[in-house]
Order: sequence, then structure tokens, then C-alpha cells
Amino acid sequence: MYVILITLFLSGGAGVLYSQDGRKLQATLEIRYDEGSRQYDRMIFGAFIEHFHRQVYGGIFDPGSPLSDEQGFRKDVIDALRELRVPVVRWPGGCFVSSYHWLYGVGNDRVPVYDKAWHVEDPNTFGTDEFIAWCLKIGAEPYICTNAGTGTPEEMSDWVEYCNLKDMGRFAAMRIANGHPEPYNVKYWSIGNENYGSWEIGAKTVDEWGPFVREAAKMMYNVDFSVKLFAAALPDTSWTIPLLRTAGPYLDFISIHGYWDRLQHVNNPSDYLTCMRMSVMPENRIKSTIDILKKTGYENKIRIAFDEWNLRSWHHPGHGSRTQEQDIKARDLADVNSTYNMADALFSACFLNSCLRNSDYVSMACIAPVVNTRGPLYVHPGGIVKRTTYHVMSMYSNLLQPNVIPVVVKSDLLTVPGVNRDISIPSVDAIVTCSDDIKTLSVALVNRDPSREVECNIGFGNPPGRIEAVVLSGDSPDAYNDINDPERVVPEEKTLKVKNGCVVLPPHSLTVISVRL
Ligand code: AHR
Repeated sequence: MYVILITLFLSGGAGVLYSQDGRKLQATLEIRYDEGSRQYDRMIFGAFIEHFHRQVYGGIFDPGSPLSDEQGFRKDVIDALRELRVPVVRWPGGCFVSSYHWLYGVGNDRVPVYDKAWHVEDPNTFGTDEFIAWCLKIGAEPYICTNAGTGTPEEMSDWVEYCNLKDMGRFAAMRIANGHPEPYNVKYWSIGNENYGSWEIGAKTVDEWGPFVREAAKMMYNVDFSVKLFAAALPDTSWTIPLLRTAGPYLDFISIHGYWDRLQHVNNPSDYLTCMRMSVMPENRIKSTIDILKKTGYENKIRIAFDEWNLRSWHHPGHGSRTQEQDIKARDLADVNSTYNMADALFSACFLNSCLRNSDYVSMACIAPVVNTRGPLYVHPGGIVKRTTYHVMSMYSNLLQPNVIPVVVKSDLLTVPGVNRDISIPSVDAIVTCSDDIKTLSVALVNRDPSREVECNIGFGNPPGRIEAVVLSGDSPDAYNDINDPERVVPEEKTLKVKNGCVVLPPHSLTVISVRL
């Protein structure tokens, strides 16, 4: 068995920090070549955009801006998302979609509607045709989430007719009349969004959900058998097993969501170490969902789409409750860029590592959202700010190889605040990727420790004297980018010296090393 040991030595400050027993702190990666490599789906680097606050209007779409093109799309946003090579974008919601009627958003006479989910008026000037055109410009596949709240299976399948039928029936004729003669061939369609939640408009019971999904799927398939269908699910057997028992034969994906720093009602972002504790949680959610697929016999047929994820939940006080007035203005707190620091970056790297480690089952993940609110890209009237997580998305999307090789990570522990007591988590999280010929390795290494360097022994047998790397660390765990300091945290290309088989990883950092074996 050909095993590569990348032994990480933890060292502190300028010197080397030894553990109490004098031994150097260590973490070891054991790359399991014997288990073979496997290609992962690039849709793990996907994105979500919702009609919420300034994600669409004032974010990707701003017809009045001098920075927008002839269709009203912000050109700087298009460029930034093309740099990420975003493979797929989910739209229009999110909670928004559960009372959205797509017909108001197509054609020449757009009907402004009151958005019952978010208590604002939606002009409907950004609808299906604009979304498809925008996806084309950023080079991403469109993924449409349909209204299973107040909507019906017929309305959903009418939407598939509008997008995918060439020239039969009134909805294809409508698309053609709207100036789009060719079908859009939208491949990805979700039936509903979080219909399990009391906060969701038109929430469904467990007994209602399976049959509803089945009937909607049948009608959508009857329009276009090539579509790939998703349904709102949970890593919870009581909801998802009945769903799969009733509608499993019609589904290609089940959709799960995750936000860990709960800020919906009180915008009090957690500190770095608390966020590092949260960074080990997404994998539990993935494993639970895998177990459900195995329990129901769908592990080889239905894939997992983690199609809303972010360390921090969005801030919308009062949403979903009658006891508290919706505070629309409070949503502006999402624009405080100092919120999004190295905790967000390293959580995101660990999240993507979790998806890549489980890419036998996880085929899609959509950061929620991709623009504004808690997203990696902040858009303001004068330009954009690439927040720390933007650079993580770029490093993963552009520097990793297309295949994952299983790796066993054994790491000394970092003590972080738990819910009731301190707990320990691995200081290091890593993913190993390789080229198809397994001759090039790109390894993403997260050092969660806020203050200690990692001296990384990359025991390649006969390691090169220098290794090319890209390092994202910032000058502190709380470092962030903002309008007046947009490049305080940026990836730095470095040639790392290999001394005694070791390179050094900075504290609170993501390092991607690439080597040709
Ligand atoms: O906070 C935003 C909401 O989070 C999305 O609209 C919904 O899908 C999720 O509950």
C-alpha cells in the first residue's frame, strides 16, 4: 500500500511549542491510496440567491447602476462569480418561494407583488427570463426551487413547460412571445423549500408531504422526463423516511440546509473559537442523511444537495412569529463586513471538506447566499468587496484537483467552548485531491488553531525542496475585508521551503499545497 504521511507538527509563535511531555505536537495525514480516488461533483461549489434584502435587487441586478450591463446585471458581480467558476445557482428562495407565483415575473407587464415571506414589495422585474440570462452570463446551471407552499403541482409543471417545452402549449408560447424562442432546458428543479418548518408559508405535515411531492414530481416529469428533481428534506428520519417511502422513486436529490451560528432574531455573531466548534458539525448532518438513504435503500439512487449552507444564519428579527414585529431595517446589519472574518473562512473550508469527504453521497452544496446578506461577495453601489469566504470558494474551485483520495487525519486537539463545557476538536482538518493520473496532488489544510503555527512534515518519501502553496490567513482570527480595506485578507502565493520534510502553516489559516509526484 502506497501511503503518504503528511505529518503536521504544531509549533507556536516563532519557536516551536512542545506539548507538556516535551514531544512536539503532531497531526498526521495518512492518504489511503489503497482505497482509490473518486471524482467529486463540482456542484459542491454551488450558490444560492434569494429575493431577500439586497441579494437580487441592489445585488446581482441593478438596472440603474453605471456598473450594470444592458440587462441590468452588475458586471463586477458577473466577473467575480465567473472567477469562482460557480457551477450552479439555486433561485428564487428560500422562504420567499413558498408564496411566489412565477407567472407574475415573466412578460412585458410585470406585476409588483407583496412578498408575504419577507414583508416587502417585490417588483418582479427580475424573474425567470432574467435569472436564466444571468446564469448564462456567469456560466452557471440554473436550479429553480418551486412553490410548494401556496403553489400547486400544476403551477410547478407549468413553470417547467415555460422553461423546457420547445413549442407546445400556452406556456412555451408565452416564453417565445417574451422573446425567447429556444427552450432553456433547466435541468434542476426542487419541489418546495423547508416545507417541514412552521416558519414556512404553506408548511406541510409529514403525511401531506410525501404524496404532494409525488404528485408534483409526476406532473413535472410528464412535461420533461430529463429533469432532475429535489425535495425539501431533513437529516431527520421522521420527515425524510416517509417522504422517501412515498416519493423516493421520483427523486434524484434530497435537499438539506444548515446554518449554525443562529442569528435570526439577535444579531450577535459568535467568536472565532465558538465558530471553530461549529465547524465540525456539518459532517454530522451529512452522515445522518446518508444513514437515512441507506435505511431506505436509496443510497445509490438519490444524492444529497446541501443547497443552503452558511456558518451564520440570516438576520430577520420577527420572521415566523406573531409576537415580534418584522424589523426590515435590521436586515441592514448583514452589511457589516467586520462580521465576516477568518472564522467564516475556515468554517467554510471545513464545510467544503466535509462535502468532499462524503462526495460519494453529496453532489451539490449551495452557499447561502452568494451575494450580500452573509454571502462571500458584498455588493454596494460603488463596487464589490470579496469577503474572506469568497477567497476560500475561489481556492477550492480553482486550485483543487478533480478527484478526492480518502485520507485519515489524526490531529492533536484544540480546546473550544462547548454548549455547557469546553470540548476538544482536531486542530487540523484536511482534504486530499488528485489529478486523474494521480500524479498531481492538491491538499487543502485547515489549521483551526488561533495562535499556533503548524510545522507540516509532508513525508513524500523524497519531498521536493520547495512546494508551491496558496495561503489565506489574515493578520488575526478576526481579520476581514471591507470597502476601505478590501485586501486585508487575500490569498498569498508562496513557495514554501521544505526543511527536514516540513513546511510551516500559519495559525488560523487555509493552505493549499500542490505537488507533482
Ligand atoms: O434565513 C433565510 C432562510 O433560511 C431561507 O429563506 C430559508 O430557506 C432558510 O430557512
